[in-house]
Amino acid sequence: MSKIAIIGGTGLTKLTNLTITGREVHVCKYGEPSAPLTRGLLAGKEVIFLPRHGAGHTIPPHKVNYRANITVLKNVGVEQVIAINAVGGISTAMSAQRIVIPDQIIDYTWSRAHTFFEEGLNEVVHIDFTSPYCEELRQSLIKAAAQAKIQIEPKATYGATQGPRLESAAEIDRFERDGCHIVGMTGMPEAALAREKQLCYASIAVVVNKAAGRGEGEEITMQEIEHNLVAGVDQVKRILEAVIPTL
Ligand code: HPA
Repeated sequence: MSKIAIIGGTGLTKLTNLTITGREVHVCKYGEPSAPLTRGLLAGKEVIFLPRHGAGHTIPPHKVNYRANITVLKNVGVEQVIAINAVGGISTAMSAQRIVIPDQIIDYTWSRAHTFFEEGLNEVVHIDFTSPYCEELRQSLIKAAAQAKIQIEPKATYGATQGPRLESAAEIDRFERDGCHIVGMTGMPEAALAREKQLCYASIAVVVNKAAGRGEGEEITMQEIEHNLVAGVDQVKRILEAVIPTL
């Protein structure tokens, strides 16, 4: 039974280096996850793949059923989750196509179903979230990137926004003052829900554009994002190939 899951983000609805062995439809008390779970072999080891935005990339960030996704992964025995997240780069080091392994999060999302601890409780639960990502898995990803000869940023604060629109330049200025280095729409509540279910969870973030007001042009274009995604996702796949055998 596979204990490792990969949650694919924008640009990664299919893992082309995965040898598929099966597909499973799961439903849980929170409803349906984004897609059936794909089981397969990556670098010779069994993994489960779940495309966050659905198999056809049709579910926007604020409509993802994060609770169902995390619950079905937990229910099938997953222990470690590698999340792939496309992001905008805020600080200068976070240039396009850069791979980032974030270590902190600031949550700016709202009205998303963000906890498992809200009904039928015997007592109120507050999970620790001092270090929102699993440090052991983060270190494995950092080592794997070095082995694959891919330069990465080994630390960053991820600002999670509601979307689906991109930000205003003033919002990005505010996030930078808050200490964010990258900005994306899917990091939360996924990371917190994974912690609530005691999953070891870390992210590989791919910078696909300079955040609003930080780039050369006036606007962020989808062409720019798509171009950077292709190169970024290729590096993500190489890191996955290097890390999976070590987990
Ligand atoms: N902002 C928020 N989410 C994103 C961005 C961005 O600039 N790029 C990719 N996901």
